Amino acid sequence: MCGIVAYLGDHQAYPILINGLKRLEYRGYDSTGVALHNGSLNIYKKKGKVTDLENFVGEIIPQSTIGIGHTRWATHGEPSDRNSHPHCSSGKKLAIIHNGIIENYGAIKKDLSDKGYKFHSDTDTEVLISFIEDIKKENDCSLEEAVRIALSKVVGAYAIVIMSADNPDMLIAARKGSPMVIGVGKGEYFVASDATPIIEYTKDVIYLNDDEIAIITRNDLSIKNIDDVALTPYIQQLDMDLAQIEKGGYDHFMLKEIFEQPNSIADCMRGRLDAKKGNLVLGGISKYSEALVNSKRIVIIACGTSWHAGLVAEYLFEEYCRIPVEVEYASEFRYRNPVINEGDIVIAISQSGETADTMAALELAKSKGAIILGVVNAVGSSISRITDEGAYLHAGPEIGVASTKAFTAQLTVLTMIVLRIADRKGTITKELYHELLSELESIPEKIKSVLKSNAKIEYISDLFKDARNFLYLGRGFNFPVALEGALKLKEISYIHAEGYPAAEMKHGPIALIDENMPVVVIATSDSSYDKIISNIQEVKARKGIVIAVVTEGDVLIPKMADFVIEVPACHEALMPLVSVVPLQLLSYHIALMRGCNVDQPRNLAKSVTVE
Ligand code: AGP
Ligand code: GLU
Repeated sequence: MCGIVAYLGDHQAYPILINGLKRLEYRGYDSTGVALHNGSLNIYKKKGKVTDLENFVGEIIPQSTIGIGHTRWATHGEPSDRNSHPHCSSGKKLAIIHNGIIENYGAIKKDLSDKGYKFHSDTDTEVLISFIEDIKKENDCSLEEAVRIALSKVVGAYAIVIMSADNPDMLIAARKGSPMVIGVGKGEYFVASDATPIIEYTKDVIYLNDDEIAIITRNDLSIKNIDDVALTPYIQQLDMDLAQIEKGGYDHFMLKEIFEQPNSIADCMRGRLDAKKGNLVLGGISKYSEALVNSKRIVIIACGTSWHAGLVAEYLFEEYCRIPVEVEYASEFRYRNPVINEGDIVIAISQSGETADTMAALELAKSKGAIILGVVNAVGSSISRITDEGAYLHAGPEIGVASTKAFTAQLTVLTMIVLRIADRKGTITKELYHELLSELESIPEKIKSVLKSNAKIEYISDLFKDARNFLYLGRGFNFPVALEGALKLKEISYIHAEGYPAAEMKHGPIALIDENMPVVVIATSDSSYDKIISNIQEVKARKGIVIAVVTEGDVLIPKMADFVIEVPACHEALMPLVSVVPLQLLSYHIALMRGCNVDQPRNLAKSVTVE
């Protein structure tokens, strides 16, 4: 979810908006736009970068002291000029910018369409602003009241700012689930997703809370809650510099994104999973859900961390859907002559949606008649556009080169797909289906609990920051997590690390074990717990150092391991979502202690768009 910025005061709005959008560029985006008011509403919006918008607006800049601006990270409707923000209401009287997702926009859009409303974009945002216009008309009420009524009826996350053609001296801002800060200047006000567009003008800010609405005029700012109760604005002093604000107060984007995982996983499930009602809706995989239910074979194609997510999916699909799965490195698949039969399902997993190897492998699979599904983060990306159907992660932009929140979002989407298919096939009992839905819904809270071990993991990191090699061991669902943990350490700390199925050690790698070899063992309580205990004992018998990730309350392994990191109990099929987090933090801290560039490691790119 990207960036919003708005201005009301006595300076020209356009340069402030453009400067603010450039400050928000670090959040990643696919399109930008501004709306200004100089007698009427003027909207300028373009797919592409802020500079593309500036070129589009040209030299003649509308004179206006009120305006709103937006950088979009698409969730509903591919990146395009017409899907860019700001959006106008059907009657062209209102303009809106929005960060977030309106989950029930479909039902609202149908009601409005039945009333004759026309829409010019595919976005949920355009539906919201026409909904507000419709409420204002039907109730003959103020814009402020119409906004309040509308927001009490919508389901989802939003940070919005609305401007009216009939009132060039007012902005209405509101938030729920998406960030928003208001800057209070001398005779001027700013609204933005974070303080980066504001800090150079004022350090006096108000952090709007969920379900609060701000009515901003040229001389006043008032705040009410969704129940129309007036609140006292609480003005704080900004105490972070620009770089710190961009990272949400964290030292690096990678750490910010590790800590974002409770929210990004919740966003991933938003509007899709409701365990209490037993609802699991994956709109993006409807046309081919029958093909998935009846498929005889699934081939997963990916690279790197996404390939590790594919391995977890293999265990899930085979366990719960009883469908054979092969997980292929895209870079290998594309150059061999793979056997793909008509009707085979190929699933591409990609955070960026631009990985060249994955793209080429998909094109090969498509040419052989496969049905191609995508599990992608970047909406409208190249890979998402060549797939027949798919489910977006909705994890928001991932800036750190080392993938963290995208990995757990991929696992979340893949688990939802597996449960959807298993329930349809009847290869899972209703009881286990509901149990896993509830467990999945509780994952954000479990990850919050793991994040509390950050200081302990930092302490352990300091003891091993000079190690020359690491081994990562896991079994079952945790085996791919061992591979992912090793990759995280390798790619940001430059320490050699290898992941193995724990039982594989006796087939050679155990020769590596000595008193200088730290061995990270993911040893959570699951069906292979007794076996993993033996593997730990094999390592200890050879003087290896064991750092064990265990289930809270484990009393056995702490007696044999050198260091223990506890994670909350969790069904083993979902444990990768939780057990990977300590490994992400371990690699982050070790890399930092080694003076490595955590966010942009040497030799690596965020998206490998070349062979
Ligand atoms: C993971 O930390 C790496 N940055 C890399 O392995 C990445 O997962 C791989 O390049 C695939 O990228 P994608 O998910 O964007 O396709
Ligand atoms: N859901 C809106 C859209 O897809 C807003 C996306 C965003 O947060 O940038 O346009």
